[in-house]
Amino acid sequence: MATTGERVQYAAVGCGGMGRRHLRGMARLYSSSMCNMELAAVCDLNADNANFLADEAATLLGARPRVYADLEAMVREMPQLRAADVTTDTGSHHTVATACLEAGLHVLCEKPLAVTIRGCTLAIETARRKGLTLSVAENFRRDPINRLVRALIADGAIGAPRLMLETTIGGGDRLFITPWRHMKHTGTITLDEGVHHADILRYYLGEVRSVYGETRLHEQVRRNTGSAGPGGFYARWSATLPDTIEATGEDALYAHITFANGAVAHWINDHAGHGQGQSARHVYGSQGSLECPGDRNGRPIKLHLDDGTTIDDERILEHAPSYRLSPLAAELFGGQRVWTYRLEFNDTDSRILALEYHELGECVRSGADPEVSGEEGRADVALNYGPFEAGRLGRPVTLEEIISGAADRYQREVDQRLGLLS
Ligand SMILES: NC(=O)c1ccc[n+]([C@@H]2O[C@H](COP(=O)([O-])OP(=O)(O)OC[C@H]3O[C@@H](n4cnc5c(N)ncnc54)[C@H](O)[C@@H]3O)[C@@H](O)[C@H]2O)c1
Repeated sequence: MATTGERVQYAAVGCGGMGRRHLRGMARLYSSSMCNMELAAVCDLNADNANFLADEAATLLGARPRVYADLEAMVREMPQLRAADVTTDTGSHHTVATACLEAGLHVLCEKPLAVTIRGCTLAIETARRKGLTLSVAENFRRDPINRLVRALIADGAIGAPRLMLETTIGGGDRLFITPWRHMKHTGTITLDEGVHHADILRYYLGEVRSVYGETRLHEQVRRNTGSAGPGGFYARWSATLPDTIEATGEDALYAHITFANGAVAHWINDHAGHGQGQSARHVYGSQGSLECPGDRNGRPIKLHLDDGTTIDDERILEHAPSYRLSPLAAELFGGQRVWTYRLEFNDTDSRILALEYHELGECVRSGADPEVSGEEGRADVALNYGPFEAGRLGRPVTLEEIISGAADRYQREVDQRLGLLS
């Protein structure tokens, strides 16, 4: 599928660590055979960050985008803009994404779509009213290995799925990249990182019926260890952050999930774990199980069958006849039916981000719906808030209760602070 026609001009709104990573994604799309977007402007309240990203863009893309600190001025002065890529911090998504939509721009918004369900709904309703695309940049599911796991489950490789175990434990009392990831009103780490896993749980096993669980704030003080963050992109900011911060947002969730198909999942997302860290993902079915390698590492999946066989090589493809990557993913990862790959983290990351951008460009040009729409992104946030709300109510909650706002005890305080409660 060669991409023809005019490129969609867009602005990168938010020029922090993820803004830098997205730029590498765009550079990857530029060098592919299917480039359909063009970076025309960057915008950030922090002029240093905006100028730094514009300089990097000049090097990586061959042209320096225009630089703005004010979204309104940017939209006024650049009528050619058709889309915005929102990579501001999570607590500002609902205002920034909504402002971009109100200004007539199609939006690709980083996950989580917003810091609360009401924030998500505001963005969804604005996109609907304006007739614009709202796509959520959920990257984990676009990893070819996760595409393959989903096809294995759908094609019956393990029979009927019964149980998924999704475990992340580690972090101790270390600051996770930025202070805002530890504050209740700007998106706790269990939401900011957890929402990726909420999306994977739904992506593998389908719609969620109910959730029970609890959350904790274990580490009330977080230490800055000077980490450069994923891919090293945060090194220029980490030394400027305080030595310690007082956290207000939960750093661990423990959940029991029931899916509409009857499967259950046990989900631990604990960013305060001490001692032995863990990152593990298993799916059990009526005829076998899958040992999944995680995200963005390209390692092979292991399929364990009842006769004692373990398949962890190319033969695994025989169990996923429906598995096919999109043409651009096939170009970037080296084939339509990739079962393993070896790339550095930043090379994998940029390929996956290129896929997100390309999809947005096609949606803008054709009016098609994105894979992770606003509604899909909101369902991920709703699953993520399941253990928060269930823990406060002392009973399981349905996803509908969370999406409708009927179960909102935890989020209510955030909504009040953000002006999202009328
Ligand atoms: N998908 C992933 O793998 C992944 C990884 C990291 C971060 N993220 C997401 O990306 C988003 C950004 O994270 P980050 O680590 O880059 O944060 P960051 O703090 O490094 O950068 C945020 C930037 O947004 C700017 N900003 C804040 N409010 C703004 C506004 N109203 N208008 C314009 N600019 C504004 C800040 O000045 C800053 O430069 C978050 O939602 C996070 O969850 C996703």
